[in-house]
Amino acid sequence: MTITWTTELETGIRHIDLQHQELVDLINQATDALAQGREQEMLEQILPKLAGYVVFHFGTEESLLANAGVLASHAQHHRSAHHAFSARIQQFKQTYADGSANANALPELANYLQSWLVDHILITDKELARQIRNAPRGQR
Ligand SMILES: [Fe+2]
Repeated sequence: MTITWTTELETGIRHIDLQHQELVDLINQATDALAQGREQEMLEQILPKLAGYVVFHFGTEESLLANAGVLASHAQHHRSAHHAFSARIQQFKQTYADGSANANALPELANYLQSWLVDHILITDKELARQIRNAPRGQR
């Protein structure tokens, strides 16, 4: 399954939307590579690129939250969600490094990435954008 970017995915914060489009592209590249039997390319090129981009993206969102002055509990909630994603990726990398990954590890990861991305954008970041718009120093 390929994720298609639509206006429904827009949060209304332009540079977050541009970063989300990049994430959609990288996750589509990963799932396409897997579907076409290019597992090594997925593992060695696309996933490291995705992992690096996600760190950058989470940093952007956490700075926006901090600069806008949203409630600390909201900012903490977003940081926890970011940590949960990073921990899942770390766990995947560990199972590959120590040889304990099972045969379904890559398809399971691909499914996880797709559903995570859609939830991250449609639920978590639409809420993030709403909180930023309503915050004392938020963007409107
Ligand atoms: Fe995001």
